[in-house]
Amino acid sequence: MCLRLNEGLSVIFIVCVEGHLKTIVQAYLDLFCLSQEKLRQVSGQLKKDMVRGLGKHTHHKAPVKMLPSFVRATPDGTEKGDFLALDLGGTNFRVLHVRVVEDLQKVLKMDSQICAIPKEMMLGTGQQLFDHIAKCLSDFLVSQDLKGQTLPLGFTFSFPCEQKEIDKSILIRWTKGFNCSGVEGEDVVKLLKEAIHRRGDFDIGSVAMVNDTVGTMMSCGYRDQSCEIGMIIGTGTNACYMEEMKNVKRVEGEDGRMCINTEWGGFGDDGSLRGIQTEFDLEVDKTSINPGVHTFEKMISGMYLGEIVRLLLLKLTEDKLLFEGQTSETLRTPESFLTKFISEVEDELSEEGKQPILSQLNLKWNEVDAHVVRLVCDTVSSRSARLCAAALAAIANHMRVSRKLDRLKTTVGVDGTVYRKHPNFSEELQETVRLLAPKCDITFLVSEDGSGKGAAMVTAVAQRLSDGYCHLTLHHHFILNSLMGYTFSYFDCYYI
Ligand code: GLC
Repeated sequence: MCLRLNEGLSVIFIVCVEGHLKTIVQAYLDLFCLSQEKLRQVSGQLKKDMVRGLGKHTHHKAPVKMLPSFVRATPDGTEKGDFLALDLGGTNFRVLHVRVVEDLQKVLKMDSQICAIPKEMMLGTGQQLFDHIAKCLSDFLVSQDLKGQTLPLGFTFSFPCEQKEIDKSILIRWTKGFNCSGVEGEDVVKLLKEAIHRRGDFDIGSVAMVNDTVGTMMSCGYRDQSCEIGMIIGTGTNACYMEEMKNVKRVEGEDGRMCINTEWGGFGDDGSLRGIQTEFDLEVDKTSINPGVHTFEKMISGMYLGEIVRLLLLKLTEDKLLFEGQTSETLRTPESFLTKFISEVEDELSEEGKQPILSQLNLKWNEVDAHVVRLVCDTVSSRSARLCAAALAAIANHMRVSRKLDRLKTTVGVDGTVYRKHPNFSEELQETVRLLAPKCDITFLVSEDGSGKGAAMVTAVAQRLSDGYCHLTLHHHFILNSLMGYTFSYFDCYYI
């Protein structure tokens, strides 16, 4: 049994008069407890799936897509300039003005603006979505007095895309609650540029597309040059890392490295995680807008954790193990238990934190109920942290073996509300990775706005290249492919 569950149940046992409660609650929670052996199997399976995703002939059927990003090196700290950045990946969309200052080795966010994306728009047409993005960008440029300038733009688009070039990126499929028509299979940069041209009131310079994991790795890479993994545990979950080119079978070239966006959220879409999915996971998947898609993500990320907890609480109540068997209209309403409630309930420091949440859900609760709710939250978040650790261990172990190292020393740039806000998520994740990847020394660095600043970082490279250090007529993609990454880094290319 998991340690946290064991401790929690003992508390219940002390406060609870009826001993049988412990056994029945335990039976439900045990479904979520993954032994170290099980986690090792999950990690091993992901490692195999990563190889399938990288393979020329196995890629198309692989659940873990392993998408080349055309980023061949991490920053060296000499980049500079002013950039715009767009960040679309959750329910909000952000526009940023970013300045990269070489002397200070700093990426400064000059200003930013958040625009909400209404739910109807997440499910509307692609044209509506991109027109909305272009409008937000236009308003921001006016507010910053930047409308006359043509700044290069980094676009963090946090969905699985087949990147053809640094400025050409085809959306494979929507995830995380988006389902706008006419975008899947299309070049997202083209859709953005078309929306800007439809307005005709401003223009942008060169565009670089990045996934949020890549942005996170790149923004941390400016501070710590051994940062070669980027990980997000927020609304969705995913990771990228620097892979040996010889293993990236779908891109030509054998030398150097390239950043691969794993899209690990899709792990299990071929049924490989069926053995550890609970009835609650299956229900969450069935009622989502994309059943069968992003199985791993649905067991881990912020978009789904609250709903798993709600379904579990509902079941325990229906089985008369909670709230004297009385559910409430609110508890029966899908998505009423927000993922942030999990952190609030589990926060040691706010013992009374449970009260407003349970009362907000219109539930009549007593002390035992409060303990069980806390235990449910703890169990679901703990599984999420441990599964993430298994996935991260798969990447670290794979990097170590590919590089023929006895020990791998690397840094992971991390971002996402679940990782940042939950009181013991990061600790549990790190502890578990240490067990599952004993030959890897992994440092964790929380990214300061990787989605915004990281996109600017990637754009800084493209900008610097086109500023005349390299051959002006070369296309970015060609530059990124041909000049960098082998023995030179991005930023050394002016020696060529
Ligand atoms: C989803 C997206 C992925 C993104 C992740 C974190 O899994 O498919 O591209 O990186 O969410 O935002």
